[in-house]
Amino acid sequence: MVSLVWQLLVVCGTATFVCGKWNTTKFLFAFGDSYTTDGFNISAGVDSLVPGFTSSNGQNWVQFLGGTYNVTNTKVFDLASGGATIDAALVPPFEPTVLSIVDQVGQFNQLLAPKPVSASWNASNSLFAFWIGINDVGNSFGWTNVTSQSDFHRTLMRRLFGQVDSLFQSGARQFLFLTVPPTNRAPLLIDQGPKAVASITFALADFNNQLAANVKNFQQRHRGVTASVFDTRPIFNTLLDHADTFGFVNVTGFCEAYQNGTPDINTQIPPCAPVSSYFWLNSLHPLFTIHNTLAKAIATSLSA
Ligand SMILES: *[C@@H]1O[C@H](CO)[C@@H](O)[C@H](O)[C@H]1NC(C)=O
Ligand SMILES: *[C@@H]1O[C@H](CO)[C@@H](O)[C@H](O)[C@H]1NC(C)=O
Ligand SMILES: *[C@@H]1O[C@H](CO)[C@@H](O)[C@H](O)[C@H]1NC(C)=O
Ligand SMILES: *[C@@H]1O[C@H](CO)[C@@H](O)[C@H](O)[C@H]1NC(C)=O
Ligand SMILES: *[C@@H]1O[C@H](CO)[C@@H](O)[C@H](O)[C@H]1NC(C)=O
Ligand SMILES: *[C@@H]1O[C@H](CO)[C@@H](O)[C@H](O)[C@H]1NC(C)=O
Repeated sequence: MVSLVWQLLVVCGTATFVCGKWNTTKFLFAFGDSYTTDGFNISAGVDSLVPGFTSSNGQNWVQFLGGTYNVTNTKVFDLASGGATIDAALVPPFEPTVLSIVDQVGQFNQLLAPKPVSASWNASNSLFAFWIGINDVGNSFGWTNVTSQSDFHRTLMRRLFGQVDSLFQSGARQFLFLTVPPTNRAPLLIDQGPKAVASITFALADFNNQLAANVKNFQQRHRGVTASVFDTRPIFNTLLDHADTFGFVNVTGFCEAYQNGTPDINTQIPPCAPVSSYFWLNSLHPLFTIHNTLAKAIATSLSA
């Protein structure tokens, strides 16, 4: 049984994937950090407006999925919070108001699990997507108070999958997990020098390996679950490795004048090139163009 499911997943592509599901996904519930948030604040009401605040100077992957790549009027509930970690008690976020994955899943269970009128979700028409770990790894890779980073990641995974288990208890069956992208190539890390880069590179690889193993284990532990990993790394690396081909003027730095966002997606403030020709908006966040490519690849994989 287990191996059959695994085979099916393998057939669907290099990334193990929930196949042929995109056209029946009526609800997309997203959990994560600044790469994922669109400013939606469910505490202000399940039907409150989506402010559309992102870290990408434009739309982010979730908005592209719900907009440009939507085929069946997928309704998005984005519970992500900028700066989020899996659990603030394990990895403190940059400020105490940040909602961790534990908080976000708590909000789901409280406000969306009861299926309010605007979220008449069920097991087969809903996808639960997680993109988390950027800040967990980013904030903890240099810690010397843990037995090892690898050991600490096991603690993080137990906490993360405890939350995923609770969504399963609430009826969730289809899951998508994005790997942590190569933040070792972000200006924030490059500026800290080769030692920091080497150290986070190791931590990122370990976190992502453990994520993949835990996703597989989660699926095997629960009947009726499809849980997939979408690997963001080949997309980031391909774009970064072929900057000229894709038209990025700079993939190791950013333009300071743009780092807090610009009034227009094409703003140009000399001597910098137009903002949309950069890969990184600031020290850690890629532009909407990268999110667009990512969302397109996710939609294609989900439709395979
Ligand atoms: C959704 O896509 C799959 C795979 O392409 C296809 O087999 C199925 O018929 C489609 N379902 C709907 C409701 O369009
Ligand atoms: C979300 O809404 C609640 C209730 O209106 C409010 O207390 C809270 O400050 C808001 N959070 C953010 C991040 O705006
Ligand atoms: C999503 O696609 C449906 C069907 O093509 C369309 O009616 C709807 O306007 C689209 N929604 C968004 C937010 O783009
Ligand atoms: C889930 O909702 C879809 C409509 O979005 C419906 O077609 C399907 O039958 C429902 N499934 C269950 C198990 O209720
Ligand atoms: C390690 O140190 C960080 C702060 O430097 C702290 O937030 C964290 O809780 C500590 N972790 C453990 C396991 O002691
Ligand atoms: C990219 O930007 C950084 C920071 O401004 C700068 O140091 C570097 O020389 C730039 N690289 C290219 C290829 O322009």
